[in-house]
Amino acid sequence: MNVAQIIAEKRDGKPLADDSLEFLVKGYANGEVPDYQMAAFSMAVFFQGMSESETTTFTRCMLESGDQMKWPANPPAVDKHSTGGIGDKVSIPLAPLLACCGVVVPMISGRGLGATGGTLDKLESIPGYRTEMSADEFRSVVNFCGCSIVSASETLAPADKRLYALRDVTATVPSIPLITASILSKKIAAGNQALVLDVKWGSGAFMKTLEQARELSRSLVSVGNRLGLKTTAVVTDMNQPLGKMIGNAVEIDESVQVLKGEGPADVTELTLELAARLLQQAGVCSSTDQARTTLQEKIDSGEAYQRLVEMVNTHGGDLEEPRILANKQPVLANENGFLSRVNAERLGLAVIEMGGGRKKLGDPIDHSTGIEFLLKIGDPIEKGQPIANVFCDGPKAEYASQLVSAAVGVSPIAVDRLPLIAD
Ligand code: URA
Repeated sequence: MNVAQIIAEKRDGKPLADDSLEFLVKGYANGEVPDYQMAAFSMAVFFQGMSESETTTFTRCMLESGDQMKWPANPPAVDKHSTGGIGDKVSIPLAPLLACCGVVVPMISGRGLGATGGTLDKLESIPGYRTEMSADEFRSVVNFCGCSIVSASETLAPADKRLYALRDVTATVPSIPLITASILSKKIAAGNQALVLDVKWGSGAFMKTLEQARELSRSLVSVGNRLGLKTTAVVTDMNQPLGKMIGNAVEIDESVQVLKGEGPADVTELTLELAARLLQQAGVCSSTDQARTTLQEKIDSGEAYQRLVEMVNTHGGDLEEPRILANKQPVLANENGFLSRVNAERLGLAVIEMGGGRKKLGDPIDHSTGIEFLLKIGDPIEKGQPIANVFCDGPKAEYASQLVSAAVGVSPIAVDRLPLIAD
């Protein structure tokens, strides 16, 4: 078989046969298909899409590029995954919180993608935290503390590990079949019995409209269930950052606050909502109301925070060791009115400009940079008041502040807030 021919067929909108997809993914995972051919293929998929049956085969091939873990039926292994957003740190409080409630959470996460931050990059701002682990190490961390957050590896979903990094720097992220295969191959490889997907829509999401997000949800839910994973999806708002913090170290601080009962309302609400759905889906709680009561107790008692400390320690990290932050500088409002619009993607791009994300494969991350965005859509604004703080040293700080200023829209009249959970 000829890879250039497979790319040409997809470029011309022809459906790909199962054996072509198998040949391509297997070759990519074992290094025979180079990045430049996979980048061209991804761009062809971006423009031409894939049928549900092609997406299912592509996902299965990505999954079969590595090993698949198995867990005992009890306690059930569950997971949640977000399609990516600005300030979305929910996985970090959610995994230890769930692990206190009679389920295990073997979570394979990703790095920054496009303008969105990545859970692994955030966790690596904790001094010593190791995201790369063998499947055996991953299993023993999950057995020991009930949860673990690691990177896809050479053995678990290796095709996604390479393709994810490639898509990040080739403008091929916002593609429904590619996102579906990326997320589900990791999640099924981790051996989960139930999965809830947080599908984001809006200015900071890959799906800019509610309709696109619904379409992505349908693809994820139907391919997940076709491949034997009990999958549901919740469509949530990403027209403004989730919480206040955007970056790496700053998002760890906010995740800790959630588990100490001091987190911003939206991050706490979404964490509880997704966790409650998983506990119900896994059969551990009979209703989401009962699940929410249990989850709140685990936060109030300090158990959930303690579980995060344990998970971090087991990964070699130390939450107590200070995380370095760059100098903080305020960004001031230029006019009076109400916050009517936030281009959240621009905020993510501002963090990348400060060094908090990647522009090309393998770029190092400056974990100390970030943004604290102080307002929510609908809030009143007075000229001269701080709308955000940027954490950045040196000459890039001025440019980052300008990007933040340019990302906000102010209206002279009051505007409605959007619901956090759309569907
Ligand atoms: N998260 C993933 O793991 N993959 C994607 O493609 C998008 C979000």
